[in-house]
Amino acid sequence: MNRSGLIFRSDYFGDAAAWQAVADLLEETFGIDVTGLDRLGGPDPTCTAFAWFDDAGACIANISAFALPLVIDGVVVQAAGLQSGAVRPSHRGRGLYRDVMRAALDHCDAKGFAAVLLLTEAPDLYTRHGFRTLPQHGFSGPAPEGGRARSVRRLHIENDDDVTLLRRLLDARSPVSNRFAPLRQREMFLFNALLAPDVKLDLLEEDDAVVAWRSGEDGCLELLDIVATSIPSLADILASLEISTTRVIVRFAPDRLAWEGTALPDAGDMKLMLRGAESLLPAGPFALPSMAEF
Ligand SMILES: CC(C)(COP(=O)(O)OP(=O)(O)OC[C@H]1O[C@@H](n2cnc3c(N)ncnc32)[C@H](O)[C@@H]1OP(=O)(O)O)[C@@H](O)C(=O)NCCC(=O)NCCS
Repeated sequence: MNRSGLIFRSDYFGDAAAWQAVADLLEETFGIDVTGLDRLGGPDPTCTAFAWFDDAGACIANISAFALPLVIDGVVVQAAGLQSGAVRPSHRGRGLYRDVMRAALDHCDAKGFAAVLLLTEAPDLYTRHGFRTLPQHGFSGPAPEGGRARSVRRLHIENDDDVTLLRRLLDARSPVSNRFAPLRQREMFLFNALLAPDVKLDLLEEDDAVVAWRSGEDGCLELLDIVATSIPSLADILASLEISTTRVIVRFAPDRLAWEGTALPDAGDMKLMLRGAESLLPAGPFALPSMAEF
């Protein structure tokens, strides 16, 4: 590709100056400091970025692709995620985003990914590239009773030993839902925990299971994700957390929780989009688990 005064680059995650230049673009565009990932183990090693730089080394336009293997209705789908899409205000409207999107999608096609996913508040930007919006649902219902309590320890993302433990459990985890969930994805879970201090991470010690949750509206419990090789039932989780709540909202399909909730359409502005065959979609309602958002 050729754009006067600009240099197209890819695969620059190992270059500290270029990584900082991308971080600067994302900080200015979204107000998020992605260098927070450095203490958590660094960016996803499967990440490939596509970007225009200027000759002073500033990142002008970027999009990054990463491997996001999913389980959908019990079948592993080799999917990719696209994230960190941004163009500097001074250079918008010249087709630079189109360039980096095309390069990223060509890369995903060449690698043989069966699907590409992204999250956006501007779906119109992506329909031209073959993406369509997927309806997502939350699952709401009464809190189950009668579970067996385990001992619980609160983990803290600021604590390096807790991060080491989380990384080990994330590497070994089983998908939180068989209907729709990442098979494994470490970096976004850790980064989302860093970005959202209201999210609590509680370790059910006997099960080596980490429950990510927060207090939702009206005192309900909002269950965001569970990192474990064997997923505990919702009743056991509630008994362990010792929370008196009458209602639960689960932010992923609850097929592994021995509990059923009513599926409520997600009315949020952030839309999940997919480029791939319709037949890949799960038969029932689902959501990308909150801690896997990217
Ligand atoms: C959205 C953004 C990346 C577009 O960058 P850009 O360099 O102006 O985009 P391009 O010039 O390559 O335009 C590509 C196409 O998208 C269209 N487009 C641009 N912004 C759009 C938006 N917000 N919604 C819908 N379409 C949009 C353009 O009209 C153009 O259409 P065309 O191909 O038919 O001519 C840039 O405005 C930006 O960084 N915004 C803030 C961050 C953001 O919103 N990121 C993406 C959402 S996840």
